[in-house]
Amino acid sequence: MRTYHTDDEAGTEAVGAEVALTAAAGTVIGLSGPLGAGKTVFVRGALRALGGNPMDVRSPTFTLMNLYAADLPVYHFDLYRLARGAELDGIGFHEFARGDGITIVEWADRFPDVTPEVTLWVRIGFDGSESGRSIRISDVPFPDTPGS
Ligand SMILES: Nc1ncnc2c1ncn2[C@@H]1O[C@H](COP(=O)(O)OP(=O)(O)OP(=O)(O)O)[C@@H](O)[C@H]1O
Ligand SMILES: [Mg+2]
Repeated sequence: MRTYHTDDEAGTEAVGAEVALTAAAGTVIGLSGPLGAGKTVFVRGALRALGGNPMDVRSPTFTLMNLYAADLPVYHFDLYRLARGAELDGIGFHEFARGDGITIVEWADRFPDVTPEVTLWVRIGFDGSESGRSIRISDVPFPDTPGS
């Protein structure tokens, strides 16, 4: 596990980019952390590093998944509004996650069925100050992750 500290949005984008550069086809990045922590900001930095346009990144609030064109297809899920884990199949989550794109999932720690699909865990937390964040990266689920 490693930990980064960022002082602003650009810093979190840079960590997203650095992490994304280690991603290969089939990587599933699971993001967690409270509302407004910076999960979507992280995705923006990741998409830039993956050869996509960071301006494309929007929270997929109503669609639950956004597809971005990049060197590999990038599937951006946000599970905040998903009511039940059983709906993951209906939105194609498992199919996308097992495909050859890069999958990035906000609120990856909401449903135990997501846990086995995730290959890299990222948790963003508030740091005390308004724009300070801690970002923890781990190959294994954080201990309180459901289904781990
Ligand atoms: N160090 C920082 N890293 C990331 N974002 C920051 C930082 N400091 C301030 N911010 C601000 O915090 C907000 C993060 O919003 P973002 O939408 O990325 O959060 P989120 O974790 O995706 O929230 P949600 O759970 O609602 O999807 C932005 O308004 C951003 O400008
Ligand atoms: Mg978000």
